[in-house]
Amino acid sequence: MKNLHNDESFQKRIDANEHVEPRDYMPEGYRKHLIRQISQHAHSEVIGMQPEGNWITRAPSLRAKQILLAKIQDEGGHGLYLYSAAETLGVSREEMIEQLHSGKAKYSNIFNYPALNWADIGAIGWLVDGAAIVNQVSLQRTSYGPYSRAMIRICKEESFHQRQGYEIMCKMMAGTLEQKQMAQDAMNRWWWPALMMFGPHDSDSPHTGDAVKWKIKRESNDTLRQKFIDKTVQQAELIGLVIPDKDLKWNAQNGHYDHGTINWEEFFEVINGKGPCNKQRLEHHKKYHLEGEWVREAATAHKMKKIKRERHHLTH
Ligand code: 3HC
Repeated sequence: MKNLHNDESFQKRIDANEHVEPRDYMPEGYRKHLIRQISQHAHSEVIGMQPEGNWITRAPSLRAKQILLAKIQDEGGHGLYLYSAAETLGVSREEMIEQLHSGKAKYSNIFNYPALNWADIGAIGWLVDGAAIVNQVSLQRTSYGPYSRAMIRICKEESFHQRQGYEIMCKMMAGTLEQKQMAQDAMNRWWWPALMMFGPHDSDSPHTGDAVKWKIKRESNDTLRQKFIDKTVQQAELIGLVIPDKDLKWNAQNGHYDHGTINWEEFFEVINGKGPCNKQRLEHHKKYHLEGEWVREAATAHKMKKIKRERHHLTH
């Protein structure tokens, strides 16, 4: 327990790259910032199970079905790690779910787009998990201990997610003309929303200042977006996919790809509830959260009984 109860000594710890643990002193702003980010990260993991879940029964082979099932199961687990990390900051699961259902809390823009066919499952794994990996590898070095440890655990599984998505795209691009067209169409629909996953440009990001000061973010939105673009363009070209950006061009001077303008109007529409699937995603979550109430009650009843039994043993 670090008993340095003031913001100044807290900042010194952050500057010294120390991990902050749940019972250490932390400024209220740091705690609130983390609850916001970690709970929204957790919501994203769980809501993200929906677009892929729709394709379990329609996977083109038993192998494809097994891989997709494993991936979706992983995402549920990622959500649980992250909800648990957020709970160490004093927020309850019920509060976080209520914030999601009321629209007060966000989840990643990307999950408000429909998965129209099997090529979308490839594009989601390759592009969405690919973007998530770039972001989450960086978050492994975040200053809050429980979040960092959750990220280290999650990143071990994410690379399998990205690889299985890319494998689907490779297969389709080596397939019939129709399969090639499906893969390119999925690329065209998922590329730009994947770039938006990294958040607004640094100059338009209200949270990045604090996030960098408190080393919650170790790299900025634009830095991570650029890393993702530089890595993914080559993977696309390798299998013959065309990036749907006429302004994409290698810049030999700075060693990165220059890219076209992102449609931030679309981004803010989507994250403020007006995307193609926002309503459906939340209604689905509310429906199954309600239907699952008996499981939570049974689990907590069991836990309460266990606690009572243990207390009885201790006092008798
Ligand atoms: N989707 C929805 N909202 C977004 C967003 C996105 N892609 N990017 C930014 N926003 C929101 C922010 O939440 C903030 O709104 P708020 O104040 O209501 O929370 C506002 O836009 C301004 O954005 P900032 O850049 O200032 O906010 P942050 O500093 O929090 O940066 C972030 C945004 C980069 C997403 C950061 O929160 C972060 O790194 N979060 C953790 C990673 C994460 O949440 N990933 C979601 C995908 S998980 C996933 O893909 C699962 C994978 O396994 C498939």
